[in-house]
Amino acid sequence: MIVFSHVCKAFGAKKVLDDFSLTIPEGGVHFIVGFSGAGKSVLIRHAIGLLKPDKGKCFVDEMEVSALNEDKLSPVRERCQMVFQHANLFDSLSLAENVAMPMRKRFKMSRKEAAQKAIKYLEMVDCEKVADELPAQVGSGVQKRVAIARAMALKPRYILYDEPTTGLSPKIARHIDALISRLAKEHNVTAVVVSHDMTSVKNIATAVSFLYETKLYFNGSVESFFAADLPVIKSFVNRCVSA
Ligand SMILES: Nc1ncnc2c1ncn2[C@@H]1O[C@H](COP(=O)(O)OP(=O)(O)OP(=O)(O)O)[C@@H](O)[C@H]1O
Ligand SMILES: [Mg+2]
Repeated sequence: MIVFSHVCKAFGAKKVLDDFSLTIPEGGVHFIVGFSGAGKSVLIRHAIGLLKPDKGKCFVDEMEVSALNEDKLSPVRERCQMVFQHANLFDSLSLAENVAMPMRKRFKMSRKEAAQKAIKYLEMVDCEKVADELPAQVGSGVQKRVAIARAMALKPRYILYDEPTTGLSPKIARHIDALISRLAKEHNVTAVVVSHDMTSVKNIATAVSFLYETKLYFNGSVESFFAADLPVIKSFVNRCVSA
């Protein structure tokens, strides 16, 4: 369970989150949506201690993330991996090495064992055939898959995805949706997805939270989100669909 409890966060005079509370239970694919600048990325960065609340608390399972100093955050970041919008792979390492390197560090694995396991994780995301390529030699959809494999290799219980389909063609975006959903179902990795992609929401969300003006404006099932008789949500959905 990921819990944000009465979180306040401001940058200078700008309040981004004000007394914001949300509980994300384990299991499923939980979408966090809202207009650009609403504070979605700021929110999920709190879950892994990249940002600290000005007031309030954040928990990942039993760990009170907001009370931990940087040097105590490793257990949180092992449990809860983040896949950033730009895959953030190391340019000079092959795709397999990108997956292997964090495993070697985290599990103190030999180079050989990590290399073998990296192939298994690349298979999980259908990228084993390009294991020896460099990031620049593959497209952004494959890079995204490899970033997901790298996150999976650290055996997280949660993966936070920030805009996983932004910048991808519709076809590749749907492949990424399918992958996020499959990892959640088959590997019990709870997905928390920040997105503007309403097709993704319709296809794979099990719950939707809508941030608006520093608050949790809506939280519920995907069906109730699209059926909500709330002008702000209707205008948000229309804007995303026509973008
Ligand atoms: N480190 C920072 N310093 C100052 N302001 C920040 C910082 N990070 C975020 N902000 C501000 O906080 C607000 C929320 O930003 P955030 O990136 O969370 O929005 P978002 O909902 O993820 O938007 P988008 O959909 O465009 O990614 C914005 O006004 C942004 O400019
Ligand atoms: Mg963002």
